[in-house]
Amino acid sequence: MKVAVLGFGTVGFGVYEMLKKAKGLEPGPVLVRSGKKDADFKVTSIDEIVNDPTVDAVAEVMGGVEPAYSYAAAALRAGKHFVTSNKALVAAKGPELDAIARERGVAFLFSAACGGGVPFLHNLALARESDEIRSMGGILNGTTNYMLDAMQRLHLDYADVLRDAQRLGYAEADPTADVSGLDALRKIMLASAVAYGTLPTEGLLNEGIESVTAADVAHFQSRGYTCRLIASGGKQDGGVYAYVEPVLLRDGAAECSVLQNFNMARYEGACAGSIVLMGQGAGRWPTASAVLRDLSGILRGEREMFPENVQRGAVDNSLCRHSYYVRLPKALAEKLPAASVEEEGDVARVLTEPMAVSEMHSLAKQMREGGAEVFFAAVRE
Ligand code: NAP
Ligand code: HSE
Repeated sequence: MKVAVLGFGTVGFGVYEMLKKAKGLEPGPVLVRSGKKDADFKVTSIDEIVNDPTVDAVAEVMGGVEPAYSYAAAALRAGKHFVTSNKALVAAKGPELDAIARERGVAFLFSAACGGGVPFLHNLALARESDEIRSMGGILNGTTNYMLDAMQRLHLDYADVLRDAQRLGYAEADPTADVSGLDALRKIMLASAVAYGTLPTEGLLNEGIESVTAADVAHFQSRGYTCRLIASGGKQDGGVYAYVEPVLLRDGAAECSVLQNFNMARYEGACAGSIVLMGQGAGRWPTASAVLRDLSGILRGEREMFPENVQRGAVDNSLCRHSYYVRLPKALAEKLPAASVEEEGDVARVLTEPMAVSEMHSLAKQMREGGAEVFFAAVRE
């Protein structure tokens, strides 16, 4: 099967190199921007791929929604299998691409879009056929895990560890999506759509790590906590929830052993119980390996990850409740249902009574709109 590659950056280079050695696969043309064609195998127009009858499949590793969506739709309509590592594309346009692929009888797979090298979506798609998926999520962003780990273990500053994550090829071209929790949110959207057939698009909440400081990390550490950015999704009381937020875990919890760019993805099946998958969640070779896994899957007859007729829908994030650690200006502490308060100068560190996820996110938003600096994290004892 000849595979064209769209994009020749961190992941694209890895996919191209792996295709040269993969059983049953061979590299085809690689799409680069005009002005960047410096070898015969590179092309600068998508038409040269879509109209090439020798190309059987297209691997998109450029990123972004457009022109990735137009190129994907054109490739699928031309009868080519399509695989992608691009979660922004699948979160925005997954249902449309799935419909075109089914109509044309070709594959639409996106294992690399969630978990890097970890075969999370792949296993979730298998599990939903025989079990009821109750919840899913975990550490799904390699950049923020790398950053939080380095801040805690190596006592480095936020700006330095972000630069390192970019240099190592873990971060998105614009790392805002990583540090704001949006990248992890897109991944839990995909997992939810794979598990339940509904791509959540309304009511989603994401809190990232942009407001965490070295002083916060030292404070958690001195009290026996480790901070991780965790995505959560699942069903509760007949509704579906999906959100991302920092979580403080007691030292010794499984998530605390997830270091560097690693991810820990998990789901809970009504019969299987808790299943945990761990591995590198970002980086050239782990991600390229997931793209190749999808391509090899096509050779074995795999065609889709979403269940048939996947729809968009809403989530209700008032279904889940946690206690929260909140660092905020002392004058605002009374707005929270406090179980305990520590004060230091103008700053208060509050541990709240259990409160709804939606309430905590909304209170922090209101305080920030009023100009306050706030950091919060759910506390898991
Ligand atoms: P990257 O290093 O920025 O590579 C993307 C490449 O695509 C760049 O060379 C870029 O060129 C090129 N490109 C973008 N738009 C193009 C267009 N319209 N025509 C031709 N070429 C175009 O990004 P990456 O890290 O490889 O990530 C690629 C995708 O994989 C993203 O969707 C990302 O979210 C996803 N992903 C990445 C990782 C990871 O660890 N890096 C892991 C999982 C998933 P310019 O540089 O000129 O813009
Ligand atoms: N920027 C993403 C991350 C790449 O750090 O997890 C993998 O999807």
